[in-house]
Amino acid sequence: MSGMLSPSLMCADLLNLQFDIETLDKAGAEYIHLDFMDGAFVPNITLDTTLIKKVKSVLVNMKRDIHIMAFHPEKYFESMNIGNGDIVSVHYEACDNLNDVICKIKSRGASAFVAVSPDTSAEVLSSFIDKIDGVLVMTVYPGFAGQPLAEGSMEKIAQVREMIDKSRRNLILEVDGHVSWDLCGEMVRNGADLLVAGSSSVFSGENSLEESVKRMKSLIS
Ligand code: DX5
Ligand code: ZN
Repeated sequence: MSGMLSPSLMCADLLNLQFDIETLDKAGAEYIHLDFMDGAFVPNITLDTTLIKKVKSVLVNMKRDIHIMAFHPEKYFESMNIGNGDIVSVHYEACDNLNDVICKIKSRGASAFVAVSPDTSAEVLSSFIDKIDGVLVMTVYPGFAGQPLAEGSMEKIAQVREMIDKSRRNLILEVDGHVSWDLCGEMVRNGADLLVAGSSSVFSGENSLEESVKRMKSLIS
């Protein structure tokens, strides 16, 4: 079982974003992870909608993997130019009417993922599993890079894998938070398909970005 890679742009060199994006794309990352925060659902702000929209124009092979940590995520779909090929993750904890938000993502031709924070039980996903294209398991508390792995994360990945397999639907299981060199292999063995690589792996600064993508890919293939 081999995993796909989604390096997290909030961990990149903010003064050289285009260079970093093009390097990751050439090196073979499948997705670019784009975190959007509203300062209310999470106590932080990161990439803005204009930047998230603009990233689309420089991608060659990579696709956008947009993680919206915000209340009323649908307010931002138009300004991010969400459409075909995009993954859009919205938080279970942030949506009053998740079914409606899922429909809005799909009506734009994008893939609808539901994200669950560490303290949210995987069981909440059972009501949505027939309607979504993937699950984003947060293995740190949303809002900041560089945190330790949340307790119970490995078990939760395995639990969500089992739910997906039982549903007999071809959902993608994405993992975001402390996806380190040491843990990425175990995450894939536990059932992860798509790994968000941040400050504990691809952007750790130990290797060049190109070498980091190759190193990560060899660990998860
Ligand atoms: C955190 C973000 C992550 C972040 C992860 O809220 O959703 O995408 O980049 O960073 P690391 O990999 O450092 O935990
Ligand atoms: Zn994220």
